[in-house]
Amino acid sequence: MIDVLEDVKKQAEAELGSVDDEVSLQNLKAKFVGRKGVITEILKGMKDIPDSDRPRMGKLINETKTFVEDLIDNRLNEIRDEKKRRSLYEEKIDVTLPGRGMPVGARHPITQVMEEVTAIFERMGFEVAEGPEVETDYYNFEALNIPKNHPARDMQDTFYVSDEIVLRTHTSPVQIRVMEKRKPPVKVIAPGKVYRCDSDISHTPMFHQIEGLLVDEGVTFGDLKGVLTEFVRLVFGEGVGVRFRPSFFPFTEPSAEVDIACMICGGKGCRVCKNTGWLEILGCGMVDPEVFRSVGYDPDKYSGFAFGMGIERITMLKFGINDIRLFFENDIRFLRQFT
Ligand code: DAH
Repeated sequence: MIDVLEDVKKQAEAELGSVDDEVSLQNLKAKFVGRKGVITEILKGMKDIPDSDRPRMGKLINETKTFVEDLIDNRLNEIRDEKKRRSLYEEKIDVTLPGRGMPVGARHPITQVMEEVTAIFERMGFEVAEGPEVETDYYNFEALNIPKNHPARDMQDTFYVSDEIVLRTHTSPVQIRVMEKRKPPVKVIAPGKVYRCDSDISHTPMFHQIEGLLVDEGVTFGDLKGVLTEFVRLVFGEGVGVRFRPSFFPFTEPSAEVDIACMICGGKGCRVCKNTGWLEILGCGMVDPEVFRSVGYDPDKYSGFAFGMGIERITMLKFGINDIRLFFENDIRFLRQFT
């Protein structure tokens, strides 16, 4: 029996070696020290042991049982420790990592420049006026001295909703709407969306303009030059060259376009300025007497100036952007540069 008990110890040790989870260990425990286990089986053999040997054998059996139990308990602790160590490692949290930032939105570059330009004119005392984007032929063209079938209509590719209704091709009709409602002095700007049937790297079917109108007694071309030169200085910087170049618009007489010195080549001539050294930024002029007549202002008493600029164009020149379509693709990598 002594040999049998020694075998039990060895067998338990050997089997424990290959057990590495709790369930198998519990099974092993049942097999050796459970109610129907190996040790219980051996105890049943006690009845064949002579009385004189029984205490000694009983003690030996108990020792074997304790030995095996300890073995299993130790292994159990090992397995539990190992499990804990592994989960601590696998589920570790690096508390030194920076937190996930809250993404912050930003205004579109076109909106930013619209607001910047609007703010500049507001500081000069201009008020913001608005008009509809779906406009009548009368306000968009006729009242601005662009009669039906006149070649001047070719200057703007127009989306016609019907014979008499158009998507406004410029913000100039707001001039008419404001003058119809108010007596001079008038000093307004009109920012907004405009539409033209045109699409390439410098044209989109919808774009933004800001219109300006100032009417009073004794307004001169000198006032126009002063206001717009100051505007250019504030948007493009102190030292940038400005020139007023004679041009034509049906609603102003005389008319001019304002150019700034090309910021790419500094005026020497390059691809961007088509070798002229200048970049056009807006149209302007003294309000045509015909326009005053259409709103009931006396052209002998009042004079005024008007101007209109494309915001996409100003934004492209300000930030050196070479394709207008970038503004409308909503590529976050492009837009992020303006936050
Ligand atoms: N409406 C013109 C355009 O879209 C721009 C313009 C030119 C507006 C001269 C004006 C002006 O008020 O005086 O091309």
